[in-house]
Amino acid sequence: MCGIVGYIGKNNPVEFLLNSIEKLEYRGYDSSGIAVCNKNKINLLKKKGRISVLRNEVKKSQDFNSNFNLEINSGIAHTRWATHGEPSDVNAHPHMSQSGKFAVVHNGIIENYLELKKSLKRRNIKFLSQTDTEVICALIESLYDGQDFFKAVKDTVNLLEGSFALGILCADYPDKLIAVKKDSPIIIGFGEHENYIASDVSAFIDKTKKICRLGECEIAVFDKLDIKFYDFNGKEIKKEIISVDWNIGSSDKKGFEHFMLKEIMEQPEAIRNTIMPRIINNEIKIDNLDKFINSINKIYIVACGSAYHVGAAARYSFEKIAGITTIVDLASEFRYRTPAIDENTLVIITSQSGETADSLAALRESKRRGAKTLAVVNVVGSSIASEADFVIYTWAGLEIAVATTKAYSAQLSVMYLLIIFIAFKNNKITHDSVKKYIQNLIYLPELVTQMLELKSKIYEIAKKYNNSDNVLFIGRGVDYATCREASLKFKEISYSHSEAYAAGELKHGTISLIEPGSLVIAILTDKKLFEKTLSNIREVQARGAKVIGLVSESKAKIADLGLDEIIEIPATSVMMLPSITVIPLQLFAYYFALLKGRDIDKPRNLAKSVTVE
Ligand code: M6R
Repeated sequence: MCGIVGYIGKNNPVEFLLNSIEKLEYRGYDSSGIAVCNKNKINLLKKKGRISVLRNEVKKSQDFNSNFNLEINSGIAHTRWATHGEPSDVNAHPHMSQSGKFAVVHNGIIENYLELKKSLKRRNIKFLSQTDTEVICALIESLYDGQDFFKAVKDTVNLLEGSFALGILCADYPDKLIAVKKDSPIIIGFGEHENYIASDVSAFIDKTKKICRLGECEIAVFDKLDIKFYDFNGKEIKKEIISVDWNIGSSDKKGFEHFMLKEIMEQPEAIRNTIMPRIINNEIKIDNLDKFINSINKIYIVACGSAYHVGAAARYSFEKIAGITTIVDLASEFRYRTPAIDENTLVIITSQSGETADSLAALRESKRRGAKTLAVVNVVGSSIASEADFVIYTWAGLEIAVATTKAYSAQLSVMYLLIIFIAFKNNKITHDSVKKYIQNLIYLPELVTQMLELKSKIYEIAKKYNNSDNVLFIGRGVDYATCREASLKFKEISYSHSEAYAAGELKHGTISLIEPGSLVIAILTDKKLFEKTLSNIREVQARGAKVIGLVSESKAKIADLGLDEIIEIPATSVMMLPSITVIPLQLFAYYFALLKGRDIDKPRNLAKSVTVE
């Protein structure tokens, strides 16, 4: 996690750096800091808390408001998600070397930092923080011969183990900036008389669309306005500059109280934008997909968090409609097992950010084992999108709230496209069925809109049950997959405990949690499983639970259910039910957290992009 940015150019770097880390605040927000090099001195400010706290300090500081060099200035900044050392002023980045000659911002984890720190301490080098990053500055300084900034950095990175994207300043060279990448992303932007580095293009896309992605184990040296690239052996390499034409989307709340609510409401559009360009003349058209998935006989869907739940929901239809064995795995587990994959396996890596460390590692492991890799990603040009053999973008637009909603819905939509495509290709469904599925798919945004119209009703339900501090979500089949997503969303932003359980498993242990007044949210949308789940509801009701049901059934049947609250789910193909059912549950989580006064867009301890393992 963590967002890093760097600037070199003729302008005062301060405002750019602050604005840019604000754009990267989704990567972490427990502290932030900035360092600028002015007349052979590095000025540093760093503060615990949100970037607004740092801004206030910068406003008051003479060093950050004095005259900058008219020819060239350099600076780096950081927004942090703590890994080593609690969130505090001293643990915030940038970190400085003991003499104040070097300043470093870092995204990643240095795995051998304790060992390095011990040996540096033996040489009387003092450390101020508990971070792994501080050893990087200390090492650079200890290897610096007083002249060769690049060599000191190159020799240092060869001693580091782990993952690191770095931005480095040296007081002796105010006209230089060095960036390094290993296993954490860093992008370079080429501007007019100024250049930039950042963890993600959104930090500078308003300044330039000419970019280049630093590759694995590469170093970029910005010397005035010239940029040279090297590998870790110091050998110069050539890099291609690409021009991007991405619409990053709006980072404005558009009148909503929170980004999360705005993004929930944008779901019909996200689904429409994702599916419509891929439906042509009642067929699903995805260029070259046909050739790419030729000969696959097994699918793995590998992801983290909500993206993993997308796989859990899609799996049922991959197996039932497309008739293909589908295994869904958490990226953090998959990468350390020995998955049985080969050239006939399609590994689908699903990720909003395209930067999730475990998902990226799972992608690399799959490629190493010869599988075909397909990325379903929202952020254009992200690491996962760039490294996969094939990519299908979800056109959800910029998602800012840490709790994903519209990207989740867009990912589900891509899964539906893939299921129909593979089912038809494998002769599991006829052209007429394809047409029917496509009609349902085209109508899906309309059904999602209908669910969004239940906003006020859901608010009232959230208010009525706002004292519940332990909620159980139950369902079977695709409904169980939706329960898992609903439970994650609920606990992520409300900080109240919840659990998702396969309804049929309750009696094997979990039902002991039920006591009078317990809140159970039950999903019953798959008609074939209705009676079975209903029996499980009766079991929890018999023990005093209050039950909110999400039900897809006739009005008459619903009236007789005897549940405490009912949310009606319109009928559609079972495959697409998760897209509809999840909407009221996202709204429930949102209002429940709102009524508890939580920090909805930036829940405690979290970050949007999880770039550490
Ligand atoms: O960027 P990714 O889709 O790879 O992120 C995966 C998870 O970190 C993410 O879905 C997380 O679980 C969300 N905050 C849940 O709302």
